[in-house]
Amino acid sequence: MSIKLAVIYYSTYGTNYEMATLAAEFAKSAGAEVRLLKARETAPAEVVAGQQHWKAVAERTAHIANVTPDDMVWADAYLFSCPTRFGVQASQMRAFIDTLGPIWAQGKLVNKAVSAMTSAQNAHGGQEQTLMSFYASALHWGSIVVAPGFTDPAIYKTGGNPYGYSHTQGQPFTDEAKASIKVQTLRLLDVAGRLKAGA
Ligand SMILES: Cc1cc2nc3c(=O)[nH]c(=O)nc-3n(C[C@H](O)[C@H](O)[C@H](O)COP(=O)(O)O)c2cc1C
Repeated sequence: MSIKLAVIYYSTYGTNYEMATLAAEFAKSAGAEVRLLKARETAPAEVVAGQQHWKAVAERTAHIANVTPDDMVWADAYLFSCPTRFGVQASQMRAFIDTLGPIWAQGKLVNKAVSAMTSAQNAHGGQEQTLMSFYASALHWGSIVVAPGFTDPAIYKTGGNPYGYSHTQGQPFTDEAKASIKVQTLRLLDVAGRLKAGA
């Protein structure tokens, strides 16, 4: 059974874009129908243009569609990827989540499988808290949280974060990091498939 996966990211400097792209590729290779989507930029255009790196990422990812509530209805599973900002999700991602009231009220998010990834400058700069803030919202939706847990040796090799893959800024995307993202993505698809089969 083909699973419809929405990989939804926000990225200012490209890290979460790279993570989301990797996850999307792993999911496609596993046979999922994948939409790679980004949370709409909410920062003023002059602020984005004022930072060379931010502007470059915005231009490089201009071809990627902004996520809409319809994508959430379409998908069986959601994989979020978003930077840690002052210990929580970047506001661009929260702005999107805050548009979901109408479909939440219609029960359209119920039993969707949800997993999350993040990145931060510091290993203890709020990575777990950012992931948990995704899961708190997912619980409100009636979605099913699918964290990686300690289900595979790959999780231990990238810092041992059972809440979701988290990337510490400046570290390379090693084979271990990619393996951890793959484990999380495939586990999400596996649980989404079980949920869909039982629906
Ligand atoms: C406004 C702002 C707040 C940030 N807050 C944190 C933080 O609380 N903890 C941390 O470790 N890193 C923090 N960072 C670093 C970001 O997490 C880092 O730039 C991000 O993970 C890069 O992801 P991206 O390349 O996908 O944009 C912050 C960065 C910015 C610009």
